[in-house]
Amino acid sequence: MAIAQRVRQHMQAAAWIRGMFEEGIRLKQQFGDDHVFDFSLGNPVLEPPPKFYDVLQQVVANPRPGMHRYMPNSGYPETRAAIAAQLAEETGLPWTEQHIVMVVGAAGGLNVVLKTLLDPGDEVIIFSPYFVEYLFYVENHQGVPRVVPTDAQFNLNLEALAEALSPRTKVVLINAPNNPTGVVYPAETLAALGDLLRQKQTAFGTDIYLVSDEPYKKLLYDGVIYPEVYPYYDNSLVVTSHAKDLALPGERLGYIAANPACPDMQELQDGFSFANRTLGFVNAPALMQHVITALQGVTIDMGQYERKRALLCDNLEAMGYQFVRPQGAFYLFPQSPIPEDVDFVKVLQAERILTVPGSGFGTPGYFRIAYCVEDQTIEGAMDGFRNVAKAYGLS
Ligand SMILES: Cc1ncc(COP(=O)(O)O)c(C=O)c1O
Repeated sequence: MAIAQRVRQHMQAAAWIRGMFEEGIRLKQQFGDDHVFDFSLGNPVLEPPPKFYDVLQQVVANPRPGMHRYMPNSGYPETRAAIAAQLAEETGLPWTEQHIVMVVGAAGGLNVVLKTLLDPGDEVIIFSPYFVEYLFYVENHQGVPRVVPTDAQFNLNLEALAEALSPRTKVVLINAPNNPTGVVYPAETLAALGDLLRQKQTAFGTDIYLVSDEPYKKLLYDGVIYPEVYPYYDNSLVVTSHAKDLALPGERLGYIAANPACPDMQELQDGFSFANRTLGFVNAPALMQHVITALQGVTIDMGQYERKRALLCDNLEAMGYQFVRPQGAFYLFPQSPIPEDVDFVKVLQAERILTVPGSGFGTPGYFRIAYCVEDQTIEGAMDGFRNVAKAYGLS
């Protein structure tokens, strides 16, 4: 057997999205691209904002000596300072470049944080439905994932969390706006979460880190103001990227921001730099660091996602599908009309609509629609969704 058992098992566990992707290729070959409605991947169709191309051209046209060389493992000081200035403006907190480490996307950042924090057997709390990669990232660093379900509205269930926290808990990992639900946690929930974690830290005599995964933070609807974690808990670390807010997922550029109030800041920063290097990332991509230094505060046109969300949600609601309307990101997580979500996704597939079963996110009975697709894909899928709604007597 060429590959490790562990990797083989994990690949099987994560086969939902890949399976759907492969099915999509097969269906597209059979019926043509325009007749398959693929909502399986969170790979945005939007292009980066015009300012991205202006800055990229400027940077490339005016090369500075050394701009492609190795750099400090935590990234360019001027890039980190630009991010700190932006965060200071957004939060009113005293950020400096000392609090920022540049990483290879949020995925790289989460691995850097977990490598830095976890000893073998340390527990990481993850809320379901979850981004499935979390399980593998935790495993990468010999941690133990503990899954806690969210409530009926996909908000954090703090009673269930209180029971799951233990003296081995090192990290509580949250994600808002959430993939796959689009939920943003209210400030009151974060305040209560902060109280609970402080209480448990004292009771156990341990450090518990709140890690907030925020690549969708700028993708908000209906004037929602993003509730930040920093005011509610000192031991908080944010991991984010410009994959979604600047539509640059292939460029792999993100950062870790440690709460300025976090004790042990220097030790954490040194740990993150070391982990960045020894995980083999060494540093975040140089060219993109130069570019995003001048793009803090710039975001893709949310009007486009607003339109896609309205098109999808208004139509599905009228057909009788049940869901929590997303407040951010570009995912919808409706209830499956039958408990067997995997079977239901196959019914949609027969209409050439590709979605992912909730089981792939640790939450059976639901399915995920990633609507970061062309408007025609949403429009084209409506007949199929309607046929299925009728077949299951939804409306
Ligand atoms: C919840 C969540 N976290 C992290 C990531 C990884 O983001 P990046 O592409 O910046 O590594 C994604 C990507 O889809 C995501 O949905």
